[in-house]
Amino acid sequence: MHRILVVDDERNIRKVLSTYLQKEGLAVETVRNYEEAVHKISEGSIDLVLTDMRLPGLSGLHLLQWIKRKQPYLPVLVITAYGSIDNAVEVMKNGASSYLTKPVDMDEMLTLIRHTLVKEQVVKNPHPTDEILDRFGIIGRSPAINKVISTVQIVSSSRANILITGESGTGKELVAGAVHSASSRRSLPFIAINCAAIPADLIENELFGHEKGTFTGAVSREKGKVEMADNGTLFLDEIGEMSIAMQIKLLRFLQERTFYRIGGREQIVSNCRIIAATNRDLEKEVENGNFREDLFYRLNVIQIHIPTLRERKEDIPLLAGHFLDKYAAENKKFIRGIDPQALEALIHYAWPGNIRELQNIIERGVVLSRLDTIVLDDLPKKLRNTYLDRADQPLEEGDFPELSGMPLAELERIAVLKALKAENWNQTHAAKKLGITRRQLRTKMEKYQLL
Ligand SMILES: Nc1ncnc2c1ncn2[C@@H]1O[C@H](COP(=O)(O)OP(=O)(O)OP(=O)(O)O)[C@@H](O)[C@H]1O
Ligand SMILES: [Mg+2]
Repeated sequence: MHRILVVDDERNIRKVLSTYLQKEGLAVETVRNYEEAVHKISEGSIDLVLTDMRLPGLSGLHLLQWIKRKQPYLPVLVITAYGSIDNAVEVMKNGASSYLTKPVDMDEMLTLIRHTLVKEQVVKNPHPTDEILDRFGIIGRSPAINKVISTVQIVSSSRANILITGESGTGKELVAGAVHSASSRRSLPFIAINCAAIPADLIENELFGHEKGTFTGAVSREKGKVEMADNGTLFLDEIGEMSIAMQIKLLRFLQERTFYRIGGREQIVSNCRIIAATNRDLEKEVENGNFREDLFYRLNVIQIHIPTLRERKEDIPLLAGHFLDKYAAENKKFIRGIDPQALEALIHYAWPGNIRELQNIIERGVVLSRLDTIVLDDLPKKLRNTYLDRADQPLEEGDFPELSGMPLAELERIAVLKALKAENWNQTHAAKKLGITRRQLRTKMEKYQLL
């Protein structure tokens, strides 16, 4: 059941509206002002907001702006005073789905609500909410990323080694950190070491440390990362780059859980949890003799594979919105959102650099932006081209991930409604567009209560 939030300071109006909408089969919540509305919306179960323009304190326009910044897909209908066309223009410019003028005609309101709900369903991410911020900072709502998050929750309690795989920029380090934060080790160190960034002959020292006087420059005893991560988590990033010689030493530590500092005689125990990550296909590296098979199996006790961004395009609007907020705040800019064309370009680009690339492009867009929205021109040429190329491409399966799982009748309802709207509710034209007779169209309109 769709859930409508009614925002109005007058008790009577709240009551009349909610009684009417409930009778029509909608669930209704009511609040009195901006603050209460923000609170309610952040809880995440609202499908549409119906707000009065005039509220005590911050106005309905402020609320609209907040919503479009935080949850661009949550539709908002604004009730404006009769005859104040300026207000209406203002709210539409700020991304309202539509507006109603006072005194509100209940039928018109209901029709608008129904239409908006259907319309927004086509582009809407199901319930983007602030709650996602608690998912260890991993933004995303796609089934693919949800699976990653639930794996993180499940595996965090054990000490089993984890191998995180995924293309560059997919969030491997973020997920490693999430496993640590979700575990009981969270108050102990999370120590990362990038195997690709450290020369082969220094990596042993980096991992296991050394005793004083072992080599020139070893003026004092130094602990290695394995020792520092005791009882915490040791993150071995880009493990695929580790030399075979070092792989053997690491394997020994994984088997025995003990090690010696370079030049040391004391056997030291470290109870760290190992999380390794790679963007290489380690199985292939094993086949090619570049990676030890025994070490691979030791590390690969639990594998978390992070899907590429192009496999979860549904997450792009959310991620883009998240980075937009972040960089707008950092740059002290007020940016309301992303213009639909720019958003479409973002959604259809292939993202070889995954989330890191998206992050960089949004940052650049924020810096370049001269308006209060990111527009196509604020994006790099390769993205603008993606958008332009797209215009004459036929639709493909997979273009609308949000449609999968939607009942066929709902799809039909949307198609009928879209055709009617495009033809200004001229039934003859809409029927032609849909390839059916006008009578068939009327039957469908009745069925879907569009008359
Ligand atoms: N789901 C996500 N939600 C929010 N931020 C994300 C998400 N995934 C990745 N990021 C951000 O994108 C950037 C790249 O992520 P990260 O460094 O974890 O990727 P990586 O897989 O380790 O990349 P590489 O292979 O290049 O080292 C980071 O700034 C990270 O915070
Ligand atoms: Mg990384």
